[in-house]
Amino acid sequence: MKVLVIGGGAREHALCRSLSLDPGVTALHCAPGNAGIGEVAELHPVDALDGAAVARLATQLGAGLVVVGPEAPLVAGVADAVRAAGIPCFGPSKEAARLEGSKAFAKDVMAEAGVPTARSYVCTTPEEIDGALAAFGAPYVVKDDGLAAGKGVVVTEDLTAAREHALACGRVVIEEFLDGPEVSLFAVTDGETVVPLQPAQDFKRALDGDAGPNTGGMGAYSPLPWADPKLVDDVMDTVLQPTVDELRRRGTPFSGLLYAGLAITSRGVRVIEFNARFGDPETQVVLARLRTPLAGLLLGAANGTLDQQPPLQWHDDAAVTVVVASYNYPDTPRTGDPIEGLDEVAAEDAPHAYVLHAGTKRDGDTVLSAGGRVLSVTATGKDLGKARERAYRAVARIRLDGSQHRTDIARKAAEG
Ligand code: AMP
Ligand code: GLY
Repeated sequence: MKVLVIGGGAREHALCRSLSLDPGVTALHCAPGNAGIGEVAELHPVDALDGAAVARLATQLGAGLVVVGPEAPLVAGVADAVRAAGIPCFGPSKEAARLEGSKAFAKDVMAEAGVPTARSYVCTTPEEIDGALAAFGAPYVVKDDGLAAGKGVVVTEDLTAAREHALACGRVVIEEFLDGPEVSLFAVTDGETVVPLQPAQDFKRALDGDAGPNTGGMGAYSPLPWADPKLVDDVMDTVLQPTVDELRRRGTPFSGLLYAGLAITSRGVRVIEFNARFGDPETQVVLARLRTPLAGLLLGAANGTLDQQPPLQWHDDAAVTVVVASYNYPDTPRTGDPIEGLDEVAAEDAPHAYVLHAGTKRDGDTVLSAGGRVLSVTATGKDLGKARERAYRAVARIRLDGSQHRTDIARKAAEG
């Protein structure tokens, strides 16, 4: 089967890496891709947001499956355009992707489906904003209703900062603060059958010790040795299946990847957010551990045959990924700097550690930084400690002027 992947981040590199290892995949294409993806897939300079162009490319290539990675093309209806061209597509319709595209819509689905989440108000006026902030008190949680690449959320003790962010958003969701550790749980679904993957934990803040601003994610690990072994079953019953059932009931079934961002609070599991696609960087660690060939699983979701999918198989190894980001990320990052040391990782650390590219591009023989998150250095090992050691050894070989990374990814979990 020929597969076309849409996107060009580390998540798409991880998807392409797994697809390239699947014996069922005869040719792998990616649009637009990045320098690293170009080593495992043929790249096409097609705008990922242009559904007609993506569908045309998929048709020309004779693709048997299109996998849409990022949220923006899904929210723009790219999966609908591909399906309209008669090609199976992994990724929800524009309607179903509103689960990620609008926080207010997600709250409405959860209320209807009885899914546990933070109590919230949707506000549009200064009066409503002040009322909601006063009702919940500090710490304040203020979320832009629309897509904001993980940067539309402000969590703060400072009422003035909370108010300013809310007023700048237009339509805004203000909600109760949820304490407790966060877990990302992904499920592959065809709109009816739901197949959960293994949980992972992401590090959203820019700096060590969970300090600094929110980012798209600075690192991740899986499995979670501290989590309740019943967590996945519990979230299946209380969150994933009810949400998928509710969207089907509304006549807008969700097929693709349902990402539940969860808080494990003292009062039980609560949904922080839904995403309509694989998480980045969690995908890098979840796919590193998945033994089941990926293309067949994603095709089953696209075709509505997940009920025939045999149980997923997993490696015993743990996985850790550390994001190397540009100078000044998550503010306007500096780009265009040469990246050195990639060959050394390939020569010294493979196959247990490898570099997945996010914002990179090739310039002759040189790889240049081209975005905020530049690389996602991923490693596996018999436990989290070993995987961490390998990931950080590889990170140390990479030279990118002014780059930053967290030094504490998976540390607490590895130390028990
Ligand atoms: P979101 O984009 O909704 O995932 O929010 C980004 C981050 O903000 C989350 O990963 C949490 O760390 C934090 N956050 C969001 N909602 C809440 C909440 N209700 N309580 C505490 N922290 C939150
Ligand atoms: N890692 C967070 C996200 O993908 O939204």
